[in-house]
Amino acid sequence: MIIRSEKPSDIETIAEVTKVAFEHHSFSHQTEHFIIRDLRDAVALTISLVAEVDGQVVGHIAFSPVMISDGTTNWYGLGPVSVLPDYQGCRIGTALVNRGLTLLNSMGSKGCALVGLPTYYYRFGFTHHPQLIHEGIPQEVFVAKSLVERVPSGTVEFHQAFKQLSIIEKDAITDVIIDYDIAGMSVDLANPAIESLIEKEILTKMPDGKFMMRPSALAEYDSYFGQVSQFRATEMSRVHKNPIMATIKS
Ligand SMILES: CC(C)(COP(=O)(O)OP(=O)(O)OC[C@H]1O[C@@H](n2cnc3c(N)ncnc32)[C@H](O)[C@@H]1OP(=O)(O)O)[C@@H](O)C(=O)NCCC(=O)NCCS
Repeated sequence: MIIRSEKPSDIETIAEVTKVAFEHHSFSHQTEHFIIRDLRDAVALTISLVAEVDGQVVGHIAFSPVMISDGTTNWYGLGPVSVLPDYQGCRIGTALVNRGLTLLNSMGSKGCALVGLPTYYYRFGFTHHPQLIHEGIPQEVFVAKSLVERVPSGTVEFHQAFKQLSIIEKDAITDVIIDYDIAGMSVDLANPAIESLIEKEILTKMPDGKFMMRPSALAEYDSYFGQVSQFRATEMSRVHKNPIMATIKS
């Protein structure tokens, strides 16, 4: 097995390996390959390692910078990490994590944090530190490893690329964009994807019980959808302001 940095020719394979590894993962929204893509596009994929067996890429790990509210710098987020199902249990994951941590150390990084199964990450020295939190998730799945003596105190924020809409949320938002009306839309509240979009304040309730989309909130999760919905909002507002168009519409 060889562990090496990604090359441009690995990009598609990395996405595929990640997709397959997380396909049946119970806590996954299957958006991990989009996270890697967006980190790369944002030049925030500080470390991207592949594991190669017999010339085939079978595993991958990503590290990207995180922000900590107490001002501590030089900390990184680990993940996603993936090994193809047929190769799992062969220490490939262990080799990827260890090589990544060694590289972080050699770069002078001060620490690393991740969201994942503590039972897997304890072996690498990751543990839960009560003073270091990640909002919006059960704290027991948020673990960190300081590479210096001091452990920071505060809230850790992963790169924007980790904010991804799930496939079902994307489907729901597509329907909403199609039905867009500046006067508000009726949405299916029984749909868990809609519920989640409301929670993320992408859809907000209007006094008459209808819902309105917030393109700027949507853009935080998906810049493409944000632009499309902004375009629809502008277009609809023109339709409503234009008396002829408004008559045709009604
Ligand atoms: C998690 C993953 C990267 C581990 O890679 P791997 O190459 O299979 O793991 P290793 O062979 O290095 O495993 C080392 C040890 O961890 C254990 N382990 C592996 N996966 C584990 C898991 N999900 N939970 C707890 N322990 C795990 C192994 O049993 C082994 O234990 P041992 O030392 O007692 O024998 C891989 O299974 C995977 O891609 N899973 C799907 C995607 C995923 O869950 N990514 C991580 C999200 S937090």
